[in-house]
Amino acid sequence: MSTQNAPENIVRVTTRTLQELKQSGIPIAMLTAYDYTSARILDASGIDVILVGDSASNVIAGHETTLPITLDQMIYHAQCVIRGVVRALVVVDLPFGSYQGNSREALSSAIRVMKESGAHAVKLEGGKAIVPTVERLIESGIPVMGHLGLTPQSIYRFGTYQVRAQEVDEAETLKIDAKLLEEAGCFGIVLEKIPADLARDVSKSLAIPTIGIGAGPHCDGQVLVTHDALGLTTDFNPRFVRRYAKLDEHITASVHQYIADVRSRSFPSDDESY
Ligand code: KIV
Repeated sequence: MSTQNAPENIVRVTTRTLQELKQSGIPIAMLTAYDYTSARILDASGIDVILVGDSASNVIAGHETTLPITLDQMIYHAQCVIRGVVRALVVVDLPFGSYQGNSREALSSAIRVMKESGAHAVKLEGGKAIVPTVERLIESGIPVMGHLGLTPQSIYRFGTYQVRAQEVDEAETLKIDAKLLEEAGCFGIVLEKIPADLARDVSKSLAIPTIGIGAGPHCDGQVLVTHDALGLTTDFNPRFVRRYAKLDEHITASVHQYIADVRSRSFPSDDESY
């Protein structure tokens, strides 16, 4: 793990820390970041895990889905984030098309992420089908986080962003997939948009932590897209998002004030001039 930024008194979060938090019953807090400045703020605030999510495709690039973002773009975001982090574990999404082909391609994508960004782990979406890939990455020394339930890279197969695994068959498959990912060596699994009772059963059945998003209170941790949690996005309002700030309103009011100050020549003042 990169220690280039870490002051001596900082204890870094590792995959082992997450395991210990689960064993101690302490919920894990994870948020997304895509740039240096926000990563620095999240890290200094004590967040356990920073996810460089492929949700960058939505909230940074403005795409409708996560599919268009490229491996090069993910590496760029990961490089920016890692420069701002001294404590948190940084996990990077392998983007759509960079790992599904075969495990050799997946390994070369994951190695690029780890080598070029200095990130600590990668996240992949999927169950049984990606198990050989997960094993290959882990054998090569790369920590892997799984992602089950609503997997946005498969949105065109699902057709909707509705809650997954509400039917018995899909719920059973998800439980089996979670076990397979654990056996393959994943250090944790994101459970997205599934019924709370199912997430509770899966979390209880695994030794590794589950991190929920729209998966109820019984997961071993929670993750949100930071832009949603801080109210920078306003057009995405699923019930699982709790807004901790209304930054959109705050920024709009600040920009209005700035424009007014420029127009009235009250900015800059003498004190703000040389
Ligand atoms: O890309 C992302 O932000 C994610 C979270 C929704 C878990 O995968």
